[in-house]
Amino acid sequence: MADRLQGKLALVTGGGSGLGEAICTRFAQEGATVIVNDLRAEAAERVAAAVGGHAAPFDVADSAAVADAFAKVAANHGRLDVLVNNAGIAPPTTPAEAEDRTAQVLQQISELQAGGPVTTFLDVTVDMTDEAWRQMLSIHLDGTFYCTREALKIMNPQMAGCIVNMGSIMGTSGGAGAPHYCAAKAAILGLTRSVAREVVLRNIRVNAIAPGYIDTPLLEVMTPTMKGLIAAQTPMQRLGDPDDIAWAAVYLASDEAKYVTGQTLSPNGGWHMSQ
Ligand SMILES: NC(=O)c1ccc[n+]([C@@H]2O[C@H](COP(=O)([O-])OP(=O)(O)OC[C@H]3O[C@@H](n4cnc5c(N)ncnc54)[C@H](O)[C@@H]3O)[C@@H](O)[C@H]2O)c1
Repeated sequence: MADRLQGKLALVTGGGSGLGEAICTRFAQEGATVIVNDLRAEAAERVAAAVGGHAAPFDVADSAAVADAFAKVAANHGRLDVLVNNAGIAPPTTPAEAEDRTAQVLQQISELQAGGPVTTFLDVTVDMTDEAWRQMLSIHLDGTFYCTREALKIMNPQMAGCIVNMGSIMGTSGGAGAPHYCAAKAAILGLTRSVAREVVLRNIRVNAIAPGYIDTPLLEVMTPTMKGLIAAQTPMQRLGDPDDIAWAAVYLASDEAKYVTGQTLSPNGGWHMSQ
């Protein structure tokens, strides 16, 4: 089967890399026309050319730029069937900081294994600047809201549509060392359920994907040792592939999921057994 999204017009934010790129690729293979957004114009253009779609570079955290981009979608295409709110960042981390974090985690583990006392602590929250907090919330949460609002201006009158938001297992499990990322992802899951209830009678479905750890450029902030520790803690003993998430997005965007709204689908290798 390669027609699960036949004839649909989809816009994927952050489509120039990782999960977004895999989603654009699978969407196109399943018959969708894809509008590839990314902050990095060259990445959006590369993926758009590869999938035979259209590039739409803009910053999802810029309200005016988002409104302008969706107005162009309405003017050029007259409709929008699927929005995937996927753009995101990991906490900016230098290689030296990543090494330090790995050393801290290994030290904590060895202190715990030795029966304590634990004297190594992560002090991420007290050290976090306002700017780092705001940047994370603005790209993930504001960006998801801005794109959702503008997409609904097209979807509401057409009385049909589908929105897929990229959450994370971090939105429910939390994760030491990334309070801003976890807060943003938790908020996205709440936003998903609220908007899902609001637009359900317009035949618009809103769902989320909460990936586990997936091997993409986002995880370049982690050392190989840290990735190994994560794989070892994952029941499937490996990080996920971008395609593991792309297939979840294909399902949620397709009519196969016509009775599914307000849900969080979590391909995570068994890290969480329920969401
Ligand atoms: N990789 C994982 O393990 C993982 C796990 C759970 C959730 N996620 C989420 O999946 C999404 C995609 O992550 P990925 O792993 O593919 O990362 P990635 O870094 O490979 O791709 C993210 C893309 O988003 C783009 N982007 C960043 N800020 C943007 C902005 N303001 N406007 C438009 N585009 C912007 C980047 O340029 C990049 O191309 C993110 O929301 C991330 O939080 C990733």
